[in-house]
Amino acid sequence: MTQPPKACIMGDPVAHSRSPMIHGYWLKTLGLPGSYERERVTAAEFPQFAKSLREKGYVGGNVTVPHKEAAFRAADHIDPSAVAIGAINTFYYEGDRLIGANTDVTGFVANLDWRLPGWRTESGKTLVIGAGGGARGVLYGLTQAGLGDISVANRTRERAETITSPYPSQAQAVSFDAISDLVKEADLIINTTSLGMAGQPPLPLDLKQAKPTARIADIVYVPLDTPLLTQARACNLRTADGLGMLLHQAVHGFEKWFGKKPEVTDGLFDLIATDIRKSQH
Ligand code: ATR
Repeated sequence: MTQPPKACIMGDPVAHSRSPMIHGYWLKTLGLPGSYERERVTAAEFPQFAKSLREKGYVGGNVTVPHKEAAFRAADHIDPSAVAIGAINTFYYEGDRLIGANTDVTGFVANLDWRLPGWRTESGKTLVIGAGGGARGVLYGLTQAGLGDISVANRTRERAETITSPYPSQAQAVSFDAISDLVKEADLIINTTSLGMAGQPPLPLDLKQAKPTARIADIVYVPLDTPLLTQARACNLRTADGLGMLLHQAVHGFEKWFGKKPEVTDGLFDLIATDIRKSQH
């Protein structure tokens, strides 16, 4: 008898991961057999663990800190999404081959479609703040969507130059100080820095200066309502939160492992939002 499909999150630590709750919700609401488990795997154990994923009964899984780069050595094939971003967050099998992919970009873009309809055609000028790992994915997604005037502002300017260099006709690096001017013209503003995260200072940005039609996105999701999003809502600007991106990035993996494309619904959003709020008290 074949066993129900099993996927897992591999990382160290994994206790904080919300992926088991997300995939568990979909398995239950779709009435599908299967499970999604936590596997605490140290850096030393990871290569062997990933190689024997199938022998352990898994059809794939998610990869998190500190394995997103080591995952490149474990995969038999790297999906272009992971090549472009330099990190793998999802494993699945195609035949006998272990495929390493990155679903953060599709998650980010799907979340903008969900929360900020019209962004693709109405983002004449875009401001991306930050140039770390998160920004690389965001920039890849925005350029793939065809946006053509993207300014990337980062405290360490060289990092902004590095990540914009593959897209010379669509994106340019600007100084962090330029933010206060760019905020006045931008149609889409995205925070990819850790500013605004629990325990961090807020992003220094005055949205009262922004266009009334501007759309604001944050990839931070703890807290759920970052100071940036709270400020945007107070100015009546449309917003896309980091939790929506987290939920949408899980869709592709679930479909590959369990055979059905799940939907991001308000019910799922509320479940995870409640858990995040609870963890903050
Ligand atoms: P990730 O891979 O999660 O994006 P990261 O690579 O550490 O994480 O990137 C964090 C981002 O937040 C960077 O853009 C970082 O700016 P630097 O490249 O100058 O380090 C930005 N960041 C973190 N703390 C900041 C602060 N106090 N002021 C401005 N930017 C900050």
